[in-house]
Amino acid sequence: MKRECAEAAYKLIKNGMTIGLGGGRTIQYLIEFINMGNLDQIKVVTPSMSTALACKSHGITVIPTWLTSSLDIAFDGCDQVDESLNALKSGGAIHTQERIVAAMAKQYVLLVDSSKLVQKLTFDYPVAVEVVPEAFSYVKSQLEKMGAQVAWRTGSGKDGGVMTDQGNPVMDAAFNTVDDVAALNRRISDIPGVVDTSLFVGIAAKAIVAQPDGTVTVI
Ligand code: 5RP
Repeated sequence: MKRECAEAAYKLIKNGMTIGLGGGRTIQYLIEFINMGNLDQIKVVTPSMSTALACKSHGITVIPTWLTSSLDIAFDGCDQVDESLNALKSGGAIHTQERIVAAMAKQYVLLVDSSKLVQKLTFDYPVAVEVVPEAFSYVKSQLEKMGAQVAWRTGSGKDGGVMTDQGNPVMDAAFNTVDDVAALNRRISDIPGVVDTSLFVGIAAKAIVAQPDGTVTVI
């Protein structure tokens, strides 16, 4: 399914474009399609080290995000997307840079299999929140007041949990029920010290959804 999704995405790319690519396995398939096709003049911007390495290994040009202000199109995976194209991107802890890439793109396209498409985000996954280190305890307490269970994401951080490429901790805020996704995202983003959240509201132009029967639908 990820392969079919990637193939549908590949068809939207034209030679000469500068494109954004996020992380994940579907994006890896898309890189394989780009490599097999005649897209030798494209340039890629990516927040993902794995994606950058895969592109480089196929001779696909990768340019720095900070030298880029506009992209023809960008593709990314997510953990869950709803029918209004709100997405939760909790997994990679690179959401701050992913959102920058998304913002630069004329079209930000999510690539998912049908298991990730829901009518309304269910918040089975936490909202990842990148914070300035000095604001760690304050932001944690504010998220808890909003009803979330909050933990510093465990992983490879040398003093504790996961740190981003920007040197900031990432905490996971698990919410039980959320009525208004946009309002929740605004409230979290407004807490002083929050750098960015993994809740992508009103950003995606479309989602390419791969179905188990091998077809794809676009929402
Ligand atoms: C993590 C993400 C990834 O892009 C997403 O999980 C990738 O999914 P897949 O491996 O199924 O393509 O947003 O938060």
